[in-house]
Amino acid sequence: MKTHSVHVCRECGTTSPRWVGRCPGCAAWNSLDEERVPARPVTQDVAATTVALHTLEGDDAPRRSTGVGELDRVLGGGLLAGSTTLLFGEPGVGKSTLALMSLRALAAAGSSVLLIGAEESASQVAQRARRLGPVPEGLEVATTTSVATACALIEQRRPRVCVIDSVSAMSDDDLPGVAGSVPQVRHAAERLCALAKATDTALILVGHVTKDGELAGPRALEHLVDTVVRIEGDRYGTLRVVRALKHRFGPVGEVGLLEMVNDGLRDLPETAMALGRGTGDVAGVVLTVTNDGSRSFLVEVQALVASSSGSPRRVAHQVSAQRLSLMLAVLEARCDIDVSGVDVFAATAGGLAATEPAVDLALALAVASAAVGFSVPRTMVAVGEVGLAGELRAVGGLTRRVREAQRLGATTVIAPASGELDDVVGVSVRRCATLADALSAARVTTSR
Ligand code: TYD
Ligand code: MG
Repeated sequence: MKTHSVHVCRECGTTSPRWVGRCPGCAAWNSLDEERVPARPVTQDVAATTVALHTLEGDDAPRRSTGVGELDRVLGGGLLAGSTTLLFGEPGVGKSTLALMSLRALAAAGSSVLLIGAEESASQVAQRARRLGPVPEGLEVATTTSVATACALIEQRRPRVCVIDSVSAMSDDDLPGVAGSVPQVRHAAERLCALAKATDTALILVGHVTKDGELAGPRALEHLVDTVVRIEGDRYGTLRVVRALKHRFGPVGEVGLLEMVNDGLRDLPETAMALGRGTGDVAGVVLTVTNDGSRSFLVEVQALVASSSGSPRRVAHQVSAQRLSLMLAVLEARCDIDVSGVDVFAATAGGLAATEPAVDLALALAVASAAVGFSVPRTMVAVGEVGLAGELRAVGGLTRRVREAQRLGATTVIAPASGELDDVVGVSVRRCATLADALSAARVTTSR
């Protein structure tokens, strides 16, 4: 057999294709020995076969419903056997709750399920489970932080669905590094994913994000798993958004809306806020429709203008701080509205983020309305991107936005003059070329 040589360091095992006097790994002198290793043949003598693609059935494997409608929507119907889903989000956002809710529903539907907890004791899990309602039989729980033990449990019990809460707390004693370090988390995920595939288990890995919002072992797990789902939301608010960031076997970018209530997360399949709710017409409040994934959401943009002590503050919550600054500059320069010396706060009500440029118009109108003291009727919805010249720019999916506004009770939509729009009955669409035009269209009443 043909061989070739490598040079291996006696001290640290580093290999080098050539002999060198000093080891590139540990810097020891004269520590490299030559070893002969068999060269890998170009064609290996293994049984390799191919299959004619047309003879195979498409992958129509049944998806297992998680019992949480909005999560199912994001997953494209439910969990797929043998696939791994990474569920991640900030601490306290509801990962454990969502995972446990799914297991309860699955167990109640007769699937064998297993929860491997690495962060909480079994009785803590039981306490949480009881908060969600009666605990079905067949929900097995184990607590361990050892990857080997977790794998052994899965092989032994062969659950249809298994949750690891969390993969960030899993470690392997044979590996250097503490639990939560990138190599440890990646190794744990690798082993668990491979086992899920081999045993046809639908696996959910719960993952933590670090303070800056990155997945622990930043993005290190993304390529290993089949699906990545993020839960977003203000931990002090009740609204939660679930979103598929990666999906090997389903739609990507799909969003689900949930509400954190006393007994778990509740589906919010319809927009949380209908036009009728709220407190009537108030200065500084303007409604818009934001598109996210395949869905459209009605969002209330709020602005508050207050006299400033010192240098003016600009605070943006759930809206883009950059777009807010831009709107302030455009209002000053193109609409003669002076906001230079005042504090400006802008936010969305209800906790849904609205950061796309199509929200510009509502943001600008909300600030103008707060600064000047007029109110925009709650039956009016504004959509449009605002350019530096004060022009209104076309936005994508305008018809979809207008339909959603109409469906939720709007009678007027202010929209850019350009951009395609199909007929929508029951709502009047005011097409405006500039922010100044939109301002006069919105300024129906003056309340101060
Ligand atoms: P949790 O699922 O523990 O978050 P994570 O696993 O992402 O860290 O949820 C934490 C919060 O949710 C906690 O502050 C309490 C709240 N909560 C409810 O409001 N209702 C409930 O039914 C449950 C179980 C939790
Ligand atoms: Mg948790």
